[in-house]
Amino acid sequence: MTRDSDKLPPDRLVQPVTMKWFAVIFGASLVYSIVRYHLVGDTPWTHFPLFILNKATSLAAVGFVASSYLIGKIFCWHDHNKHLRLVVIKFCGLVGFFLAGIHASLSFCLLRPAYFAKFFVEDGRLNFTAELSMTAGVIGLFLLMSPAITTLPMMPKAVGGWRWKRGQRVGYLALAFVVIHLVAMGYKGWMTPSKWPGGLAPISLIAVIVALLPLIVRRKLERQKQARLKERETEADSSPTETGEEG
Ligand code: HEM
Repeated sequence: MTRDSDKLPPDRLVQPVTMKWFAVIFGASLVYSIVRYHLVGDTPWTHFPLFILNKATSLAAVGFVASSYLIGKIFCWHDHNKHLRLVVIKFCGLVGFFLAGIHASLSFCLLRPAYFAKFFVEDGRLNFTAELSMTAGVIGLFLLMSPAITTLPMMPKAVGGWRWKRGQRVGYLALAFVVIHLVAMGYKGWMTPSKWPGGLAPISLIAVIVALLPLIVRRKLERQKQARLKERETEADSSPTETGEEG
């Protein structure tokens, strides 16, 4: 007997496995936001639809983008089915980009002193750290367009393999700007754990750790690759001499 999911086209982004990814990442972000701000903290439920959903959306966006760069590298899931793994990577990257877009739009609705007094000076303008943070956020969002656009089916052929890869790697730069976005807005709050509601870490701190993971893993893998190349070069350099000695 065939299951309904077996009949789905293999490239379909919406399928049971990707829905599980969505439920886990978005669900965890939403539950954490509700617990930290409504249940342990004192944010009234009237602010759930915009303020709290925005927090969950922003954390989930970082989680999805990071996952799209970690699956197959440190998350060795779906290794038995490379095609499915590519679908999951694509799903995570695109959902991350869309959620980041939703977060940016919700944030524009919220960006006023009544919600974020720490971002504003007395005359109603943004202070230095808020300006830096918002600029980094906007650049991060625009940079995320590059890997999102290159996932379109016609793109590998249209731009060629090397440029396609470069387009995908722009996502790492986007994550670096997201790190600036978060450090600029959050670092002061990270220094006072005694004030964290229920001892729960700020979302900005969790997100920065998640955003840094792909950058750290990439650096480590690059170093390993360089070391392997160097090893091969030294082996190749030494082999003719050995042959010569033998001769
Ligand atoms: C136009 C671009 C962006 C704007 C205007 C923007 C605006 C904001 C604002 C106002 C906050 C404070 C929200 C709060 O504390 O409740 C925030 C926090 C945050 N943003 Fe963005 N953002 C942008 C892009 C991004 C992108 C591209 C990402 C990641 C993919 C991102 C991830 C986050 C995260 C994780 C937080 C922390 C939320 C928290 O600490 O509660 N943002 N952003």
